[in-house]
Parts: sequence; structure tokens; C-alpha cells
Amino acid sequence: MTEPIDSHQIKANMKKAYDEISPFYLKWTESSHATRLSYVDIMLKSINTQTGTHQKSILELGCGAGVPVTQLLASQEHTSVTANDISETQIALAKERLPASVDLIQGDMMNLGFGHQQFDAVLGMYSISHIPRDEQTVLLTRIFDWLKPGGQLLANFPETNFEGSTNESWLGATNGAVYWSSWGREKLVQVLRDIGFDIKIDEVVVDSEETDGVSRDVPFHWILAKK
Ligand SMILES: C[S@@+](CC[C@H](N)C(=O)[O-])C[C@H]1O[C@@H](n2cnc3c(N)ncnc32)[C@H](O)[C@@H]1O
Repeated sequence: MTEPIDSHQIKANMKKAYDEISPFYLKWTESSHATRLSYVDIMLKSINTQTGTHQKSILELGCGAGVPVTQLLASQEHTSVTANDISETQIALAKERLPASVDLIQGDMMNLGFGHQQFDAVLGMYSISHIPRDEQTVLLTRIFDWLKPGGQLLANFPETNFEGSTNESWLGATNGAVYWSSWGREKLVQVLRDIGFDIKIDEVVVDSEETDGVSRDVPFHWILAKK
């Protein structure tokens, strides 16, 4: 029998783990910064084509230390940025690295509430897969509501389908645990289409991750979708 998912415990453990590993995570992840930036660049160009010099609002979920993505968003003209993370350490690191104009919100992304059609874009880099996948569907539906017509979602997810995987010592964590869950590429595309998104990019990029001295290829599914 499958254990019921304790979302509250998953979030509490996640916060503890990231509060401990955030400085290490920031260094560890440098090799995949270029991939993030290339997708954000595509999204920003597309939004700028649509909105010109009108003021834009962008939301980032699970922003980590704000490097490199929130920094790039914050450097754009006519753009206000809201960034969220569950970890107090990540938010503290982000505060040191971002201009004061970025609105940083600490807490579970599932507890965020925004207005209908508030954002031109919503991003989730390596972050939405940290919540149970049923919650991911609820969140993606909320994001659709928060986006303006023509607004864009840029996010990545593990390519494979699994209901939940927990690691109590990921990147050397001694506290809490890190959790991932994923619908898998095919089902996620269906979920997004059912919500009403028009999928513009649906592709896989393989990251090379090194943990405990062992390097492995991890395929991530990148989505750029339009309301
Ligand atoms: C793998 S890191 C990605 C950080 C950054 N987006 C990047 O691309 O490097 C995942 C981030 O999501 C945050 N996170 C995990 N669960 C969350 C939740 N329920 N709500 C908000 N943030 C969460 C973690 O604290 C962590 O900073």
C-alpha cells in the first residue's frame, strides 16, 4: 500500500534541508546556469516583443539565491520582480545579491495568493517539482489565472514520471529532506494543455550532476507555455 503524502512534513523537511545546503547548492549548480539563462532570454525577448516598453510584472517561484535568474530579471527595464522561496537561507542569500526593488517572499509556493491576470510571466526553475505532483497541477492552474492573456510560463521538471522521491542527505544535508515528484513529460504536457496553456517549447536538456564524486546525466523537461 502506498503511504499517504504528508505535504506539511515534506515542506518542513525541505525548508530545513535548503536552509542548510543553500550556499553549497549555489556553487554546485553553476555548471547549468547557462541553460537557465538561455531559456530566460528566449522568454524575455518574446515578452518584450508583446509588451514593448510597458511596465511588466514577473514572478519567480523557488528563486533560490537569485543567481543567475532573478538577477537577470531584475536587470530588465520597466520590469517589477516578485520572487519566492521556502528557505530563509535562500531568501537571505537572495537579499544580498538582488536590488531592493525585488519583492522577496519567504514561504511555501502553495500558500501564495495573487490577483487574476497580475503577471506577464511566471518562472519555476528546478523548483515546482519539489512539491507533490497533485499540488503541481493545482499550482499550474493558479499560475494560468495569475497570468495576463498572452503571459508566459517558463519552468522545468524532471523528464521522467515518479510519484515521490526523498533524499535525506542530498548535497550533504544533515537536517530535513529534499523531495521531488514529477508527472513525466507526456502527462505534464497534457496537464498544461487541459489547463489552457499553448505550449511553445517542449524539450529535454540533459544536465550533468555530480553528487558524492559521481557524475550522472539528469534529463530535465523545459516548458515555455503561453496563456
Ligand atoms: C533546486 S533549487 C532551485 C533554485 C533556483 N531556482 C535555481 O534555478 O537554481 C529549488 C528551490 O526551491 C525552493 N523550494 C522548495 N520547495 C518549495 C516550496 N514549497 N515553496 C517555495 N520554494 C520551494 C528551495 O528552497 C530551493 O531554493
